[in-house]
This record gives sequence, C-alpha cells and structure tokens, in this order.
Amino acid sequence: MNYLSQFANTLHQILHQELDLSTIELLIEKPKNADFGDYAFPCFQLAKSRRQAPPLIAKKISEEISSPLIEKAEAVGGYVNVFLTKKTVTQKVLSTILTGKQHYGSSTIGQNKVVTIDMSSPNIAKPFSMGHLRSTVIGNALAKIFQKCGYETVKINHLGDWGTQFGKLITAYKKWGDEKKVKKEPIKELLSLYIQFHSEAEGNPSLEDEGRAWFKKLEDGDAEALALWSWFREESLKEFNKIYQLLQVDFNSFAGEAFYNDKMDVVVNLLEEQGLLMESNQAQVVDLQDESLPPCLIKKSDGATLYATRDLAAALYRKNNYQFEQALYVVGNEQSLHFKQLKGVLRKMNFDWADSLVHVPFGMMLKDGKKMSTRKGKLILLEEVLSESISLASRNIEEKNPSLTQKEVVAKQVGVGAVIFHDLKNFRMNDIEFSLEDMLRFEGETGPYIQYTNARACSILRKGNWNGSDGTQINFESPAHWEIISLLKEFSDIIQTSLKKYDPSQIAKYAIDLARAFNQYYSVVRILEDNHELQARLALVYCVTVVLQESLRLLGIEAPQEM
Ligand code: ARG
Repeated sequence: MNYLSQFANTLHQILHQELDLSTIELLIEKPKNADFGDYAFPCFQLAKSRRQAPPLIAKKISEEISSPLIEKAEAVGGYVNVFLTKKTVTQKVLSTILTGKQHYGSSTIGQNKVVTIDMSSPNIAKPFSMGHLRSTVIGNALAKIFQKCGYETVKINHLGDWGTQFGKLITAYKKWGDEKKVKKEPIKELLSLYIQFHSEAEGNPSLEDEGRAWFKKLEDGDAEALALWSWFREESLKEFNKIYQLLQVDFNSFAGEAFYNDKMDVVVNLLEEQGLLMESNQAQVVDLQDESLPPCLIKKSDGATLYATRDLAAALYRKNNYQFEQALYVVGNEQSLHFKQLKGVLRKMNFDWADSLVHVPFGMMLKDGKKMSTRKGKLILLEEVLSESISLASRNIEEKNPSLTQKEVVAKQVGVGAVIFHDLKNFRMNDIEFSLEDMLRFEGETGPYIQYTNARACSILRKGNWNGSDGTQINFESPAHWEIISLLKEFSDIIQTSLKKYDPSQIAKYAIDLARAFNQYYSVVRILEDNHELQARLALVYCVTVVLQESLRLLGIEAPQEM
C-alpha cells in the first residue's frame, strides 16, 4: 500500500485532463515540517497552463479533494497541503506489519530475475584493504536488498589471483622469502616481499624483467610457478575468510581472475573474427574511438593477457551461466574507465546485454585526506580495525550493562555493526575519512545507536508482556505516535529507491530517522502505563522493532535483543 500513489490517484481524478499520473507523482513533495501536512502538491506548473495564480488553483483543488484517506486539504501559498486520516492510516500500517512481520516491505518486482553481484574481490597476497571492505559491505547490502525485492542474487568474489604481480612475488619469494615466515603470517610476509621487490627494482630494473619472465612461466603452466602461486592463494584465502566470518558475508562463487585463464581464447577469437582486434605498439587492442574512450588492451606484446581480457571472459561466462538481468560490479570509482571500456567492447561485439552491466562505483577511503595505498605499507589492516572495534564495544558493555548475558556475542555484533554502518550511512560515492573514533562512537548517527534503540524497544515489549495482536483494537488518542507511523509507511518505498539507485545509505538514513522518532516518542509518552491505549502502544513498539531489525538485516548488521 503506497499512500503517495493513492494521493496521486485522487489528484489525477481532478486533473486528468491536464496532467498524467506519473507527472503528478513526481510533483508531489513530502514536507519536512509536519505542520505542512503529510504531502504537498505544488501548483506552479498548472499556473502556467491555466494562466491563473498558484494560490487560487491550490484553493480550488483543496476544495475538490475527497478521499477517506485524507482528513483535510489546505491551500498554503501555491501548495495544496494534505493531511492523511491518522486513524485509518495507523490502523492499516500497523496491521500490515503485524501480519507481515519480517516480510513487511518485500516485493516481487524481481521475480524470476537473476542479478550477479561482483563484490569484495581482494587481491591475493595483499592485505584486505578498506576499499575491499567498502565493496564487501555495499555488495552484501545490495544482495539483501535485491533479495527482499524478489530477485535471485549470485554473489561473486572475483579474486585478484592472476596478473603480472604474481611474477614479481615469485621473484621476490625465491630471492628473499622464508617459508616459515609466510606460513605464520602470510599476508604480512607476502606484502613485505612485494614492497621489497618494488624498492629494490628502483635501483635494479632487471628485476622487473625477471618478474615478467616468472609471470610468463605461470601463464604457460610451469609447475614450480603454479605450486607457489596456488600456495600463496590458499594462505591468503585463509586470512580473508577470517574477515568474511566476522562480517558474516558469504559468496556463491569464488571464481577469481585465474578461473578465466582457459576462457579467454574464445573471447580473443571472437574479437578477431569480428575484425575488432588491432595492433598497436605490438600489442592487441580494441579501438574505442567512436565511444570517445582510449583503446582497450587485450593482449600485451609478449602475448600476456590483461585484467580487461579476463573481465570480458567473465562477463560472457556469467551471461551464459546465470542469464542475469543485471550484472553489478561493486568496484571503486577509480576503475570507472575500465568498466566503460568493458561495456564498450561488448557493445562492439554486438551483445545486446552489454548495457545490463552496471558499475556500482564508490569513493575512496581517505586517511588524513589522502588515499590509502598498499604499496608503501601505509595501510590500516581491516582485521585490526574490527578487533579494536569489538574490544571497544566490549568495554562499553562492561561499563553500562555488566550483568548482560552473552556479552562476547553482543560485543561482536555491536563492534562489527559499527564498522559496517559507518560505511553504509554515507552515499557510496562520497569519500570517507577513515576514523576509528567516528565509527566507534556509540551515540549519534551510528550502528550502535540503532541497535541500542531496538534493544530498548525489545525490553519494553518484555516488560509489557507483549504477546502479539492482530491489530483490530489499535486506537490512539493523542497524535504523538504519528511521526513513527508516517515513517513506517514509507519502508517499502525506501527499499525500492535504494534498489533503483544501488544505494544502501537510503536504508541507513531511514533507520536513523526511525530510531530518532522512536526515542522522541519514548521521551514524551509513558508507554507501559496501564490504560486502554496500552495494547496499541505495545503494537506500535513491536512494529518499530520489526522495521528496525529488518533495516539492520538489509545492511548486513545484527540486532541484539539486549545490550
Ligand atoms: N581485484 C580488483 C581490485 O582489488 C577488483 C576486481 C573487481 N572486479 C572485477 N570484475 N574487475 O582492484
């Protein structure tokens, strides 16, 4: 049930000769200030065509409006402000949530459709960076949002497990490596070998040639090179899995770049047959001048394939294997040229699905205003961030609620939730300043604030012996609950907007608003007072817990019942 559309319909009955329904829907505003009603319709566009003053038109429309859902309509300035019938809407919203429970807000728009989500995709033998964290949590939230709308999702971890860097790493390991050290702390040790390679290569350029040679061996299937590569991969995955376990993120596929090694010939042959391959400086490229893009490199002069070649093979493989309706790539904004080129090449190959590839970019994680880099070792390890966050949450619980049962479980839920929320509350394109202090703040616009609000509401339900209601006796005397209802009714709209914009922050911001509205209600109303409104208030509190928990779940954050 969408109240905005119903209001649009009512207006359309009056204005059908002048405006179509979708225009009316787009024009309707939601006033920030409740004094101006629940919805407002501006009459300035009509004023032009009717050649009348907007206030006059507003007045006329407000007198003509009639619907059981609308209590009153007022003309103010050039606007028609409408106030919904609180009693009816309250009844409807609460009884829909009471019966739907965690399914409230679901839809079937994605039924029988598949969406693949390329996400996380860290690079083997390198640390899991904050950028990979962003991809992981944004991708994970998008998967849950798409599922909520009926889509089947395929979460793919396109591991960076192939490329020239493995030639460098093998070179470094053979020169300076120590097996025991790698086993003990694989990522740390492999990273320092990689860093050493780069600093030594500055004074000794022949190292780069050695690195290239080892990569060539790897691509040709040399046994020693392959054994080292697969060992590096295995050790790295063990460490990545620790992080995935903490974040509670799983994948449907770990097909990384190497998976496409035997699938690239097909692509290269197709390009050749279609006459799309050109030679440029001894390399093979696809010209993309008519798309105003630089040429896409397919094969280097030594025959080595590239990141783009593997992504082309991956796109074809995914289309055949999953028949996706959309293929999302949750990858940093700095790769946007790569994805433009990828789509450009697919368009040239006449694949009509080329435009169903969607790059979902995100901004950078900055430290003191500068990009965080892995090469020079100035990097914050995500595992340390998570464990620090958990121990801070734990100290907080010790202080505020020392008798809490399952303290460790809750500390984990709160600590990890704080890190995820810090990321998701911002629109993904914004750069985020990395600040442990900010993400770990336990009040304000944070994950713990929402978790705490939910836990408080759950405790009220326990004290009030809430045991469910079918919503038949919901009746409020004062309008104090209205702000909550007017937010609750928007939930499915919020979910669908966040899906259309690939933007989980819509849900995060909504959860903050709902938590605030609830805390405001809690501060002015004696919820547990025993009078005839008690059951209605408990039903309201219950519905708030349903929607807060569902919002957190969609973001990939847990909701403890007590904290
Ligand atoms: N491994 C890459 C990186 O860390 C991201 C891969 C993104 N996915 C893709 N299909 N290109 O930068």
